[in-house]
Amino acid sequence: MPINENFLLCPDMDSLPRIDPPLRIGVMASGNGSNFEALVESTLSSSLNAKVELLVVNNECCFAIDRAKRLGIKYLLHDHRDYVSRHELDKALIQSFKEFEIECIVMAGWMRVVTPTLINSFNNRIINIHPSILPSFPGLNAIDKALAFGVKVTGCTVHIVSAEVDSGPILAQAVVPIFEHDNKQSLRRRIQEQEHKILPIGVAVAAERWRLEDLSRDNMC
Ligand code: GAR
Repeated sequence: MPINENFLLCPDMDSLPRIDPPLRIGVMASGNGSNFEALVESTLSSSLNAKVELLVVNNECCFAIDRAKRLGIKYLLHDHRDYVSRHELDKALIQSFKEFEIECIVMAGWMRVVTPTLINSFNNRIINIHPSILPSFPGLNAIDKALAFGVKVTGCTVHIVSAEVDSGPILAQAVVPIFEHDNKQSLRRRIQEQEHKILPIGVAVAAERWRLEDLSRDNMC
């Protein structure tokens, strides 16, 4: 795996095969939505041959909705407080994503635990982004934890979602140094700059594998 001068631990987007046919992506977000926007931008600039067909949010006040409106992306609200269990919420999410013929879900700041109901239904085609070098600092408040621990580097990880929180096969990582003067805001800003670069690359890495799987399945039929 090459390490370039930006400390991205992933291939260059240009070195990856073009995704064919284009990937139909659904995004889940709970908050600001900057990763959602970065992903949409990478599809609009054609660096990622994919289309974000749907955004699902769980919070009607989240800024990701404003971004979806500006970018012309359809969005749906599934407020977790309207469901009796995580399982019921995930069943509703599955139905929405199936209606939009989504092949791959990207959790871009989705701050809820997902259940095996959703994970199994999408057959290893759910991707998450997390603000640490996993397996360090999984779960909530990863940036606070890195600062409190006193580590000298942290970063971000794009990975396939498995049943355990913030675990699963890693697709892309970026390293971010922690400086003496850093606080949560300054560190988060630098981590997010890297997140916006590695999220589309992580999706492209996974899509290459999925298209090969699709091909070998078609050849067996
Ligand atoms: C991102 O930093 C992402 O890594 C993190 O939430 C932020 C969302 O930012 N996700 C997690 O902590 C998941 N465990 P955004 O709304 O601006 O994309």
